[in-house]
Amino acid sequence: MPTIKEIAKRARVSIGTVSNVINNSAVVSPRRRERVLATIRELDYHPNHVARSLKVKQTRMLGMVISDITNPFFPQLVRGAEDVALRHNYLLITFNTDDKIDREKQVLAVLRARRVDGILLVVAPGTGSHGHILNAVKAGIPTVCLDRLPVGVNVDSVSVDNIGGTRTCVQHLIAMGHRRIGIVTGPTVLQTARERFQGYTEALKEAGIPVKSELIREGDFRLESGQALGRELLASGDRPSAVFVSNNMMALGTLRAMEELGLRCPEDVAIAMFDDFPLADAFRPRLTAVAQPAYSIGYRGAELLIQRIEKKRLDQSPIRIHLGTELKIRDSTAGFRFRSED
Ligand code: RIB
Repeated sequence: MPTIKEIAKRARVSIGTVSNVINNSAVVSPRRRERVLATIRELDYHPNHVARSLKVKQTRMLGMVISDITNPFFPQLVRGAEDVALRHNYLLITFNTDDKIDREKQVLAVLRARRVDGILLVVAPGTGSHGHILNAVKAGIPTVCLDRLPVGVNVDSVSVDNIGGTRTCVQHLIAMGHRRIGIVTGPTVLQTARERFQGYTEALKEAGIPVKSELIREGDFRLESGQALGRELLASGDRPSAVFVSNNMMALGTLRAMEELGLRCPEDVAIAMFDDFPLADAFRPRLTAVAQPAYSIGYRGAELLIQRIEKKRLDQSPIRIHLGTELKIRDSTAGFRFRSED
């Protein structure tokens, strides 16, 4: 990892000037400022705030990067990680990316600058390279990916059986008599969304049901996309009799769309979702859900990360923990009347 001294030498300025640029603590000519900033970018330098203030080797801080704490899935994830961190005397600091790659890059830069001892990462959807993540890993920062596995980033991970969980749920819809089953997928740049879609298509194919593009919509895991796409799917005359929604928030959006359209669940349309809610059985209708062990994902991820930090796990190859899901069958997929009976 480059030092401030190397930056100063490469940029042909004093250490004081580099410090002034980093801290905006004194006037520096634009030409010198740009030369220093260009060198910082070129050497991928991150000022070591901790060393400067605490002069210790470890910060005992873990960084946790999630999508959106207002989504009920994530607080359970964070709580699992925090319980482990606290037990091992680590401080967990959490950041939201709002599923934006630029924010993910910014957050990782802050975590590196703060010299966290390790990172728990739920990646944001993005088609570009994961260079910012790979740079953190190459800089020697132990990193564990949770829930979503970024392509080309070979690090420890904790994920769930998205394919099997979705397949079992769609098999349940088929067993209830549904043949026209729609799906609102998540952003298919994410492996979780692709795998849930795969589980959906596998269940249909096993039952000899054609996969029809008019029954497929791609959302972004947020409520608004579930509402808009649910409206599209269900406003048509030949609407599906059941919809599988690939996460909790879009499922709420789909239920809103059904209310707008005057459709009842499950009488007119059955709804099942990936992700369970705490208190899901307090909703009416009670929602059929593929429950993820969110707390365990966070808990196991933090355990693995701390073992890596403390050199208690020396496996050269990435450790991949893969957890199961549980189908919770409730009212939203109960008793189906075939359309012909209407
Ligand atoms: O609801 C948020 C989704 O993003 C969940 O399904 C979880 O898997 C996360 O990836």
